[in-house]
Amino acid sequence: MANLLDQLAAMTVVVADTGDIDAIRQFTPRDATTNPSLILAAAQIQTYQELIDRSLRESRTVMGAAASAEAVVHEALDEICVTFGKEILKIVPGRVSTEVDARLSFDTEATIAKARKLIGLYNSAGIGNDRVLIKIASTWEGIRAAEQLEREGIHCNLTLLFGFAQAVACAEAGVTLISPFVGRILDWYKKSTGRDHYPGPEDPGVVSVTQIFNYFKTYGYKTEVMGASFRNIDEIIELAGCDLLTISPALLDQLRSNDGVLERKLKAFDPAPTEPQIQLDEAGFRTMLAADAMATEKLDEGIRGFCKAIETLELQLAHRLAVLEGGKAFDHAVHEIFLLNDLDGDGCITREEWLGSDAVFAALDTDNDGRLAPADVRGGLGAPLALASQS
Ligand code: E4P
Repeated sequence: MANLLDQLAAMTVVVADTGDIDAIRQFTPRDATTNPSLILAAAQIQTYQELIDRSLRESRTVMGAAASAEAVVHEALDEICVTFGKEILKIVPGRVSTEVDARLSFDTEATIAKARKLIGLYNSAGIGNDRVLIKIASTWEGIRAAEQLEREGIHCNLTLLFGFAQAVACAEAGVTLISPFVGRILDWYKKSTGRDHYPGPEDPGVVSVTQIFNYFKTYGYKTEVMGASFRNIDEIIELAGCDLLTISPALLDQLRSNDGVLERKLKAFDPAPTEPQIQLDEAGFRTMLAADAMATEKLDEGIRGFCKAIETLELQLAHRLAVLEGGKAFDHAVHEIFLLNDLDGDGCITREEWLGSDAVFAALDTDNDGRLAPADVRGGLGAPLALASQS
């Protein structure tokens, strides 16, 4: 019998929910999704340091030598998200989702501008719009931005979606795809009720996605439904048949390691009975969202969390930029020192050639061979710089 992952892939598009490129390689997802927390996590993996460094260098080139470190880091944030996206697209045959800066979640125009910029970076690398989903928080402002972007042929994935009002507004706006969250809804109910276990069919996150799916299929909305944010494989099993499910590598692995018959629970061709169709204007949207404490709290908390992840990443990038650019300045300083001291030009400075004090020569000559090679000088100067950049 096929394992649960293979059975799921036969009825639902399986998507990898991670920025870890090597983890994606271990499975064969059609698409992949990232978010600021996932990019921050991937940026901690040593293997990807070169991608980060490359993005920082490209950002310096784009911004120019006179630009402040802050401006370079801000630019690098977009570069990094797209760089990870481009690497992921070398592995998955379908689409990658790249998230707009969460700090723009309540600004329609700024979200549109950022989305155009991100898609421009993909396009300039020869990647077409059909392979990218721009992820935007499902605020009223985000949904309006997505509506405009879809008209321009930029496809959107509306995320941080916890409530029915958000789903309906997205469908009416004609967005390509929504990511209703499952696990974070469960987290909220566990915390607010004190109940520590919900069987799959009763899981409030599962109930929410099921309701949205049946509503969309009943009324013929084209917006794809991609369940996201899973805490266990029972939630995934209960949503088999959903258009797409984005799943972390750890849970993909569990699905692959488990057998058993996987039954289709959601049927696009035969949706379960659903509620009457509604239309939502801004007032209706806000009223319905405000009436849903879980969705309101989780949306706000989700935006805060992604903002924090971005700010943490920016701090790390600023430190790394200082190391990279400090390194260049030090190369220059080392060159200058050799011009002054290496009188015979043989690439080494002897104690006789050295114009500085004996104490400094001794400190730099760590192998005590009486000669300073460029690496000795660079090493002696580099340690304080690395320390300074970490403080
Ligand atoms: C994917 O689109 C979501 O960003 C992701 O599934 C969120 O998962 P989490 O609730 O585990 O952070």
